[in-house]
Amino acid sequence: MSINIGIHDLSFATTEFVLPHTELAAYNGTEIGKYHLGIGQESMSVPAADEDIVTLGAAAAAPIIARHGSDRIRTVVFATESSIDQAKSAGVYVHSLLGLPSATRVVELKQACYGATAALQFAIGLVRRDPAQQVLVIASDVSKYELDSPGEATQGAAAVAMLVGLDPALVRIEDPSGLFTADVMDFWRPNYRDAALVDGQDSINAYLQAVEGTWKDYTEQGGRSLDEFAAFCYHQPFTKMAYKAHRHLLNYCGYDTDKDDVARAIGQTTAYNTVIGNSYTASVYLGLAALLDQADDLTGRHIGFLSYGSGSVAEFFSGTVVGGYREQLRTEANRAATDRRKPVSYAEYRALHERSFPTDGGDHPTPAQTTGPYRLAGLSGHKRIYQSR
Ligand code: HMG
Repeated sequence: MSINIGIHDLSFATTEFVLPHTELAAYNGTEIGKYHLGIGQESMSVPAADEDIVTLGAAAAAPIIARHGSDRIRTVVFATESSIDQAKSAGVYVHSLLGLPSATRVVELKQACYGATAALQFAIGLVRRDPAQQVLVIASDVSKYELDSPGEATQGAAAVAMLVGLDPALVRIEDPSGLFTADVMDFWRPNYRDAALVDGQDSINAYLQAVEGTWKDYTEQGGRSLDEFAAFCYHQPFTKMAYKAHRHLLNYCGYDTDKDDVARAIGQTTAYNTVIGNSYTASVYLGLAALLDQADDLTGRHIGFLSYGSGSVAEFFSGTVVGGYREQLRTEANRAATDRRKPVSYAEYRALHERSFPTDGGDHPTPAQTTGPYRLAGLSGHKRIYQSR
């Protein structure tokens, strides 16, 4: 049975600081064209010492609670692959910071960058079971690779919050989905490591294999044909990856890869990712925010979503843009979230990258750096202490 469920509201937050790729290129001697054109990145978000996935997630979700209240929210699903605790969900801290009712279920989900799409689909299932309820989905990540590694240029950090419910104001999510899982070691992060391990070329190939796999299943499940879509929101570890993926899909389907057609399908989805960098779980939904904020009226148009998480799990699905969606957009706030970041020098970024908390259980306050609504005040007795302004 088809029932009208989807994304009712979407809000995002990113970090206090930003590192322009020109700074990175000046430090490591890379020709800037490789960053600006080769991978399609201008800058990357850098968390302050007192920011993490919780402060970002709470900052993304707060405007949604301010607009809609929390009366109908009975579930919070927090998707991340930069988890701060092996047991407690980061969502429980956010639940507390936002003052959500105790009659709420809160859980954390993980499968690399794919986690938020699993959260969205699970949310739809919950709403289908009880259409009176809404689910708050939060995707929040800090992408961290080794300093001086090829992955360094593809870091970033952001959180997207989405309110999922009946009769959505933005995008109705449709059945069916195309699914794909393959046990590959393209990118991973063992529990004892702070930075991810990656085989760059392998990861690109694994992503492209997943594009084929999801599309094959999507068509077998009776999905739409390629030319029914007005645009495609791909997971964007770097924005050029979306172009590579779309060309691959067109080739796989026997279509020409005309440069202008590809640009029309992808171009308006990259504005936030190109200045934020890889935000893992949030990335594909930052693509949606950019598209809705920039495109001419998309009412009734279909959008293709390709969510990829290394390791790997991927899903292709479709959303239809709802009439009146433009009145719900947060375009100004979205632009302000990226514009408010303070540029840091390469040395300042490197110092932040190298920071970690001592593991001795002592009192370790963090320097007050963020001007955002929530901060990680420190660690005490192995407990993270958060503050609202
Ligand atoms: P690299 O070795 O630094 O770069 O790795 P390259 O030599 O492959 O060059 C990159 C592109 O720049 C190439 O274009 C060059 O030709 C071009 P392409 O051949 O790909 O079209 N180039 C230039 N263009 C213009 N002017 C120039 C110039 N020089 C070179 N002067 C790589 C790049 C992305 C592999 C690296 O940064 C990396 O390992 N990143 C991390 C892994 C990654 O992002 N993988 C993506 C797929 S996996 C994924 O999406 C999942 C993930 O998000 C994790 C998760 O799921 O949790 C990562």
